[in-house]
Amino acid sequence: MMIVPGPTSVNLGSKISNLLEIKVAPVEFKFFPDGESYIRFTEDISGEDVVIVQSTGPPQDTSLIQLLLMIDAAKDLEARSIVAIVPYLAYARQDKRFRPGEAISIRAVIELLETAGIDRFITVNIHNPEVMDEFVVPAESLSAIPQLAKYFKDKDLTGAFSLAPDKGAVEIVKEADKILNGGYGWLEKERNIVTGEVTIEEKEFNVKDKNVIIFDDIISTGGTVSSAAEILKKQGAKKVYAACVHPLLVGDARERILTSGVDEIVGTDCISSSFSVVSVAPLIAEALKRGV
Ligand code: R5P
Repeated sequence: MMIVPGPTSVNLGSKISNLLEIKVAPVEFKFFPDGESYIRFTEDISGEDVVIVQSTGPPQDTSLIQLLLMIDAAKDLEARSIVAIVPYLAYARQDKRFRPGEAISIRAVIELLETAGIDRFITVNIHNPEVMDEFVVPAESLSAIPQLAKYFKDKDLTGAFSLAPDKGAVEIVKEADKILNGGYGWLEKERNIVTGEVTIEEKEFNVKDKNVIIFDDIISTGGTVSSAAEILKKQGAKKVYAACVHPLLVGDARERILTSGVDEIVGTDCISSSFSVVSVAPLIAEALKRGV
C-alpha cells in the first residue's frame, strides 16, 4: 500500500502513513499561469494499492479537480486499486433540490469520483449520512465527534452541556454527550434558501454558570455558531466553546464567532487551519487497517 497525500492534505497524509508505517508517494503539483492545476506522480505506482488523501475545502473546485486528476492518473498508471480519502467532501450540503431547477451538486461530485476510477471512498462526518447511499463503490463516513469530545474531556470539561445549533446536529451532540455526560440539547435553525441568512429560535436551556460546547459538522461563515453562542450567553452560560469537524471559517468567521462570546474554536485536521487541533489521522488509519 502507498499513501499519496494530495496538495491539500500533505500533513494529514504523512501522519496517516507514519501511523501505518507505510510509504508515502508524493505528488508534484503546480498551477499554470491561467490557474489550471498540474499533477505528477513521482513514484512508480503500477500494481500498487494506492490511497489518495485529499480534502476538498476552499478553494473547493481546485481541490476537487486535483483529486480527480490524481485518481485518473493513478488509474491510467495502472495502480492495482485506488482508495480516495476525502476528509471533507465539498458540495455535500447541496444534497437535494431546495429550489426548482437546482443542480444536486453532491450527486454530480460522486459520479465524477466513481467515473474517474475509485474502488473505495472514505470521508469524515459527511453533512448528511444518507448521501453515502449514492456511492456504488464501498463508501463510509467516519465520525470524529468522539475525538473532539475527548479533547474537551482532557481539558477537564466533563459535565459540559453539548448543544446542537440545529436539528441536523442532534446525532452529533448525542455522540459527544456519551463522553462528556453533561446533557445535550438543540436549537431550531432556519436558513433563507435564497439569501442564506440564518435565524435561530430562542429556547431555554439550563445552562446558567455551566460550560457549554456547541458541536457542528461545519463552521463556514460562523453565522450559525455565533447566533447559538449569543443565546447561550444571554442565558448565563459560563464558558462557550465552538467545536466542529470541518473548520472552513471563511471571511471574518473567526472574529464573528469570538465576538459572540465563544472562548475557543476547536476543529479537526480534516481541513488544515489554525483551529485544527484534533487529528483524524488515527481514525483514518484504523479504517484503512480494518479494510472494507
Ligand atoms: C449546516 O446545516 C451545517 O451543519 C452548518 O451548521 C453550517 O454549514 C454552518 O454554516 P455557517 O458557519 O455559515 O453558519
